[in-house]
Amino acid sequence: MAALSRFLSFIDQNAGRFIQRLADAVSIQSISGNGVHRQDVFKMALWLQGQLDTLGVQTKSVDLGRHVMDGQDLPLPPAILGRIGDDPKKKTVLIYGHYDVQPAEKSDGWDTEPFTLVVDPATDRLIGRGSTDDKGPILGWLNVLEAHKALGLDLPVNLKFCFEGMEESGSDGLDELITSEVAKGKDGWFWGVDCVCISDNYWLNSRTPCITYGLRGLAYFKLTVSGPARDLHSGSFGRTVHEPMTDLVLLMSKLVDTNGKILVPGVDEMVSVASQEEKALYAQLDYSVADVENAVGAPIALSDDKVEVLMGRMRYPSLSLHGIEGAFYGAGAKTVIPASVSGKFSIRLVPPQTPEAVEPLVFAYINAEFARLNSKNKLKIENLHGGKPWVADHTHWNYEAAKRATEAVYKQTPNLTREGGSIPVTLTFAESLGVNVLLLPMGRGDDGAHSTNEKLDKSNFIEGSKLLGTYLYEVGAVNA
Ligand code: BES
Ligand code: MN
Ligand code: MN
Repeated sequence: MAALSRFLSFIDQNAGRFIQRLADAVSIQSISGNGVHRQDVFKMALWLQGQLDTLGVQTKSVDLGRHVMDGQDLPLPPAILGRIGDDPKKKTVLIYGHYDVQPAEKSDGWDTEPFTLVVDPATDRLIGRGSTDDKGPILGWLNVLEAHKALGLDLPVNLKFCFEGMEESGSDGLDELITSEVAKGKDGWFWGVDCVCISDNYWLNSRTPCITYGLRGLAYFKLTVSGPARDLHSGSFGRTVHEPMTDLVLLMSKLVDTNGKILVPGVDEMVSVASQEEKALYAQLDYSVADVENAVGAPIALSDDKVEVLMGRMRYPSLSLHGIEGAFYGAGAKTVIPASVSGKFSIRLVPPQTPEAVEPLVFAYINAEFARLNSKNKLKIENLHGGKPWVADHTHWNYEAAKRATEAVYKQTPNLTREGGSIPVTLTFAESLGVNVLLLPMGRGDDGAHSTNEKLDKSNFIEGSKLLGTYLYEVGAVNA
C-alpha cells in the first residue's frame, strides 16, 4: 500500500507544523458555557471552516438559532458541515467532533496559560485547554486531509464532517439539524453515510490504545432553595428563621451514598445486573485499580476489585454533586445566612435509562424529601440539560477496521471499552442514520479533559493522526 506509507511519513515529517496549527486552535477561547466568550466560539467556527475550505472540503456553516443560557439570550454557534469525495464505489464515513471547550483560568491551578499551547520538553506533552478535548482530535482529521492534498493522493473513502460548537453545554440545536437533514433524503447532507467515527474520548489507561462502543447519558439538575428577601447576619437571625443552605445541604445529602449508590428510588433499579460473560469482558481489559488511582492522584478507588471499578464507570449509572451557587465561599469567615442557594448535580445514565424516564423520579423524590423537612422556604427544581446513553455493536466491520488500524499503528491490541462520559449526539447519529457509530480516541486516560493542565501527548497527536488516516484505509478496504 504505497499511498498509506507515503501518508504515514508525511505525518512524521510535518509534526512541527501540525503542533503549530494546534497552538493556533487552542489560542481561540471557544468556551461554549460562558456567554462572555460566545464570539470566540463563532471565531473558532470560522477558523475551522477556513481550514477545511483550504484543504479542499466543500463546507456549509449552519445557523442553529438562539438559546437562553443563565438568563442570557444568545446566538448558537453554527454547525460546520463538510464533504469531500462522492465516488459511489467508495464507502462514506461521517466524522463528528466539537470545537468548543470547557472554561479555564490560570488561577484554577494551571501551571501555564491555559490558552497558550505549551510543548513541555521534559515530557513531550502539548498542554492547553482543548488539546485533548476535542481540538487535538479534530486537527488529527485536518492532518489526514492535508497529507492527502499535499501528496496528491485520493482519499480511500468519501468523507462527511459535522463539527459543533455547543457540545460542552448540551449540544443545543444539533439533534434538530440532524433529523431535518435526514428527512430531506437524497438531498440531505448525511445521505449515503455508511458509518460514523467520533474521536472525542480517551484511552482507559496511559499505555493501551482503545476503541469504544458505549457512552453514558446525562441528566443535569439544579435545585434552588430561597427564603429571606436578602442575605442575613447569622448573629441576628441564626435559629430564628429557616435557612436555605441548611435545607439544600440536607436535600443534597439524600441523593447518593459514600459508596456511589444512588438513593433516588427507581434509578439504580432500572439497570440489569451484569452476567458472568459481561464481567469477563471487563476482567480482560488492560487496567488496574492503580491506573484509576494514578489518574486521580490519590488512593481513593471505591473498590479493590478492578471489575467493580470498571463497571462503576462503564455500565452503572452514577450521581455526582457539582457545586452550590450563592453560598459564601472564599477567604475569611463571613457570618452570613445566604438568602438563596442553588445546588447542581447530575446523573450519568446507562441503557435503558433516558433523561425523560429518570427526571420524574428525581422530581418526585426531591419534592417528597423537601416536604419532610417541614421548611417554610421555597424549592425550585430545574433540569438543565441531558443526553441519552448509547451502546453499539462492536462486532461490526467499522470496529474491525478500527482494530486493524490500531494494531498497525500501535502494534498493540486495543482495549474494547465503554466510556463513563457523554456525547449527546452519538445516539442521534446511530438512530437517525441507522448506521454503526465508532468511538476512536486519540488521547490518554490521564489527559485531564475539563481539568487543570489538560494535555495531549505529542506521540498521541502524531500517532493518533496516523491512526485516523489508517482507519480510513481499513474502511476503504472493507467489502460489506
Ligand atoms: N469528550 C467528552 C466526553 C467524554 C468524557 C468521553 C469523559 C469520555 C470520557 C465531552 O466533551 C464531554 O465533556 N461531554 C460532556 C457532555 C455533557 C455536557 C452533556 C460530559 O460528559 O460531561
Ligand atoms: Mn469532548
Ligand atoms: Mn468535554
